[in-house]
Amino acid sequence: MSSKPSSLVPIIIIILSLTTVIHHHLVSAIQLSTSSRWIVNDDDGERVKLACVNWVSHLDAVIAEGLSKQPVDVISKKILEMGFNCVRLTYPLFLFTNRTLGAVTVRESFLRLGLIDSIHGFEANNPLIIDLPLIKAFQEVVASLDRNNVMIVLDNQISKPGWCCSDSDGNGFFGDQYFDPDVWLYGLAKVATMFSSSANVVGMSLRNELRGPKENVSLWYRYMQKGAEVVHAANPNVLVILSGLSYDKDLSFLQIQPIALTFGNKLVFEVHWYGFSNEEDWKTNNTNQVCAQVVDTIMNRAGFLLDEDYPLFISEWGIDQRGTNDFETRYLNCFSAWAADHDLDWALWTLAGSYYFRQGVVEMDETYGLLTLDWSEPRNSSFLQKISPIQSPFQGPGLSKNRPHKMIFHPATGFCVQRQSFSKELTLGPCSGGESWDYTSRNAITIKGTCYCLQADGVEKKAKLGTTCTDRSSQWEEISASKLHLSSKINNGTVVCLDIDSGNTIITNTCKCLAGDSMCDPASQWFKIINTTTESRAGTYGWMNWIMQSLGAYLLG
Ligand SMILES: *[C@@H]1O[C@H](CO)[C@@H](O)[C@H](O)[C@H]1NC(C)=O
Ligand SMILES: *[C@@H]1O[C@H](CO)[C@@H](O)[C@H](O)[C@H]1NC(C)=O
Ligand SMILES: *[C@@H]1O[C@H](CO)[C@@H](O)[C@H](O)[C@H]1NC(C)=O
Ligand SMILES: *[C@@H]1O[C@H](CO)[C@@H](O)[C@H](O)[C@H]1NC(C)=O
Repeated sequence: MSSKPSSLVPIIIIILSLTTVIHHHLVSAIQLSTSSRWIVNDDDGERVKLACVNWVSHLDAVIAEGLSKQPVDVISKKILEMGFNCVRLTYPLFLFTNRTLGAVTVRESFLRLGLIDSIHGFEANNPLIIDLPLIKAFQEVVASLDRNNVMIVLDNQISKPGWCCSDSDGNGFFGDQYFDPDVWLYGLAKVATMFSSSANVVGMSLRNELRGPKENVSLWYRYMQKGAEVVHAANPNVLVILSGLSYDKDLSFLQIQPIALTFGNKLVFEVHWYGFSNEEDWKTNNTNQVCAQVVDTIMNRAGFLLDEDYPLFISEWGIDQRGTNDFETRYLNCFSAWAADHDLDWALWTLAGSYYFRQGVVEMDETYGLLTLDWSEPRNSSFLQKISPIQSPFQGPGLSKNRPHKMIFHPATGFCVQRQSFSKELTLGPCSGGESWDYTSRNAITIKGTCYCLQADGVEKKAKLGTTCTDRSSQWEEISASKLHLSSKINNGTVVCLDIDSGNTIITNTCKCLAGDSMCDPASQWFKIINTTTESRAGTYGWMNWIMQSLGAYLLG
């Protein structure tokens, strides 16, 4: 190649410095705080909802999974494309506390485990990372997420690299074989310091799923408070995220004794909720009753913290993406209704389509993984559609520019109840920018700013928009143990429930699966009325459009 003409050099310098400025602007740091139960951006005080996915980097090979399948930036971009804004990136403590381990290269780490295929794949997809020490490789993954505007919560999943978690793995509680509190505190400080200049590291999960025979509430306070202080001292910008006892299913002890920290506005609690924790209940009891009872339990063990003005981060939940476990589908519907109702921050388990090496298995397929075995695309796009509404915030600081209203969420489909333009027909459609409903003190469900309300017409008949909103066919109650059935009476006194038909048209039908029957799945009749202040159809199109639409509906109807 020829050398550049010297006259172009100044121009190139200008262009280069401009790109640096732009680049610098793009990666300007995100800092989050808490404001009552919400996580907010320090810049403008507006709510930031964490819609994260867990990216595993704590297994035996001690390198983020999937890098033998796809380039790191491709994976970072895919995370955003799938609607997530954040990653909970797991790590084993010893990566940062054992210098020898931190200095092992990725290639050496694979060689030790005999993972020759992983080396070949890694060389092809991430040639610049394969010969880096493990600690630098971890930093490269963080840097890629930074570059691509994905927020990062660093999660200390375990001490000794390997699959987590069991009661007897020596990593469960302070004082266990691999869990020396002093080593842990040293490691936390090191991680907090190391990533204090990373633009997108917004939080640190101090320790995943405390558990095992040594569990002890007073030691929880002693060490979690110390851990929180150590992290905050090393990096006062990050959110400090604390998990509970019993595999992070229980924070109820905080009802008795509050936590005592020297700093405020940075503390978040995390909790885990999987379907398999209540597998037998979901399989053998009535789905409405299980949903009600399980939600009640999680509210008592963790959800109460929202009322005490702490954000609650559901840092692990998820299902087998093949959708073959019926009980998990029921759990997912119950979970989505709950997560939407409380507008929670969360992290799905998991991104990984495969693991290099897990529990002795080479190239293990992860059926809970969002991505396929080759990390090229989502395993199940209908799952992504179902969870897409809860990836967006509904309420919170800065989102209250629009007037409060309701949306009617249908968890089984991930859609909301909408009116079709220029007709009175009701159907399911995207929740964002959707219909602006109101649920009045007289139990009428009305379209805000109009005289229309939801009306039942009969069994297996289309639900209508009517104007006689004091009729009993316009009174709706949230019934059944789960409160997820919306029920009304038609004018001959028959009780019906809101439902959908096979074309997603909103109908009313005989209420099903209210109690008792354990085989029956109520999903089509589960709706949740959600509070929101986000942009609605009324806000999007303005009042003129409303008048036009109402006029059209009147003329057509
Ligand atoms: C540190 O890591 C090296 C390399 O994996 C390992 O051989 C050694 O046992 C570790 N030391 C401790 C104290 O865990
Ligand atoms: C918890 O730990 C404290 C402090 O070490 C100890 O005094 C107490 O007996 C322990 N409680 C239980 C139930 O083991
Ligand atoms: C399931 O049913 C059993 C037996 O009636 C009951 O003891 C249990 O609490 C129920 N579980 C749930 C989660 O509803
Ligand atoms: C996706 O999940 C649904 C259930 O949610 C299931 O019916 C479907 O078969 C799954 N699709 C794939 C490709 O696994």
